Amino acid sequence: MLVLPKGVRHIPGHLDRPGQEALLEDIRDVVRRSPLYRPEMPRTGKPLSVRMTNCGDLGWVADKSGYRYQDRHPVSGAPWPPIPSRLLALWAELTGETRPPQACLVNFYDTDARMGLHQDRDEQDFSAPVLSVSLGDACLFRIGGTARGQPTRSFRLESGDVVILGGGGRLAFHGVDRIYPATSTLLKDGGRINLTLRRVSA
Ligand code: SIN
Ligand code: MN
Repeated sequence: MLVLPKGVRHIPGHLDRPGQEALLEDIRDVVRRSPLYRPEMPRTGKPLSVRMTNCGDLGWVADKSGYRYQDRHPVSGAPWPPIPSRLLALWAELTGETRPPQACLVNFYDTDARMGLHQDRDEQDFSAPVLSVSLGDACLFRIGGTARGQPTRSFRLESGDVVILGGGGRLAFHGVDRIYPATSTLLKDGGRINLTLRRVSA
């Protein structure tokens, strides 16, 4: 059995196929109202390989001036659409948090996209867990300790899987090494969607 860092939970297949399809419809609706855009790395301005949008009161954005949360889409200037109720229910069911999530980052990975090892630490408060849901093609997910340079391990995330970073694992380093193309039929044109729900303020 794969031993994960304390506070990190991987729940394989938490969403069945009908559950994944229903959630995908919700996300299509979010993306229609709040289109995916390509953020840029702070300082260098180099575009990320992952395209992003958000729903919720706040959304995570990246551009030349840094990483932050803001209440509007950086390209359209429109407020983010609300978090779909299906995701709010999942958060309540799996995190035990009474406070609702404030932000839901929607990441879209095409076949060549990846995400370097990082910590989720742009929030003011780390007491609530981070909950993430995978849809579409599988990926190789990497997770380590709470300090850079600690050993890491990697495992596959499939469509419908949930990962929770909570407690001592809330600040665990994590990233996406690669996408496995054509491993799911959920997205007609392939690729992977990851949804990350977070509290931002205390
Ligand atoms: C993230 O860390 O923002 C995304 C992780 C993932 O795609 O599974
Ligand atoms: Mn992250």
